[in-house]
Amino acid sequence: MKRLGLLIFAAALLLAGCRHSSPQTPKPAAYGTQITEVSGGKQLAQVGSPLPQPLVLQVNGADGNPVTGALVTFHGDGVQFTPAQALTDSSGQVTVEAQLGYNPGDYQVTAETPKSGGGAASMSLREIALGYEQTVGRMLNDKYCIRCHDPESTPERVSNLDNLSPAPHQFTDGATLNRISDADLTNMIAHGGPALNKSPQMPAYGATLKPAEIKAMLSYIRTIADPPYQTPGVKYGK
Ligand code: HEC
Repeated sequence: MKRLGLLIFAAALLLAGCRHSSPQTPKPAAYGTQITEVSGGKQLAQVGSPLPQPLVLQVNGADGNPVTGALVTFHGDGVQFTPAQALTDSSGQVTVEAQLGYNPGDYQVTAETPKSGGGAASMSLREIALGYEQTVGRMLNDKYCIRCHDPESTPERVSNLDNLSPAPHQFTDGATLNRISDADLTNMIAHGGPALNKSPQMPAYGATLKPAEIKAMLSYIRTIADPPYQTPGVKYGK
């Protein structure tokens, strides 16, 4: 009986928690004229997962100085924010956690702050959710490709990029990679640089990776491209 009481108590607490998770809009103490990103855009996370880093935005006034106590509201189709609304701190910034939805691909996050004369200032960030296939591609990238295709060195992995000429591109480099067709990318990954009259320093992975893995690699490259990759002839309205 005692247990049942505890259970009911716990359930009541949970319910109360739910009600508290959608608090009333905080009341702004000040208004800005501009909102800018400090950090948190262009992150990758698995579908349904929180972004690794919080979103940090800053509200400034007409004089360019940070505004304390301005209200910032976050929107994004399928994205959950904790909290979805907040007041800027003493450095004019708000920090929120964001969790992406269950569809792989792009998510657009908008942050908005009301202006004193009416209307609102807003800005958008792009975040990217990786589905199963892109996650496999990402793992393969870490294992095989990143040591040449990423300029950043870590204690565990020294980047080779600066020693290569012509230098390979980062897979986020949409300006370059979006112009290469699926067929050519697949060919190059399977048969190496010379398959496309490119550098032999780009190895052939046809014996190492299964066709499905090369497809996963391709899917990963297309998903993280910046600017975003548009399937030829198809425009997605989102
Ligand atoms: C040993 C270094 C090295 C590794 C490892 C490597 N690449 Fe490359 N890759 C290159 C070089 C060098 C080029 C540039 C070739 C050129 O422009 O002539 C290149 C070019 C490419 C290109 C054409 C676009 C670009 O960046 O110029 C693609 C796509 C590519 N590599 C995919 C991959 C994939 C996928 C992997 C891992 C499975 C991989 N590479 C691993 C060296 C490497």
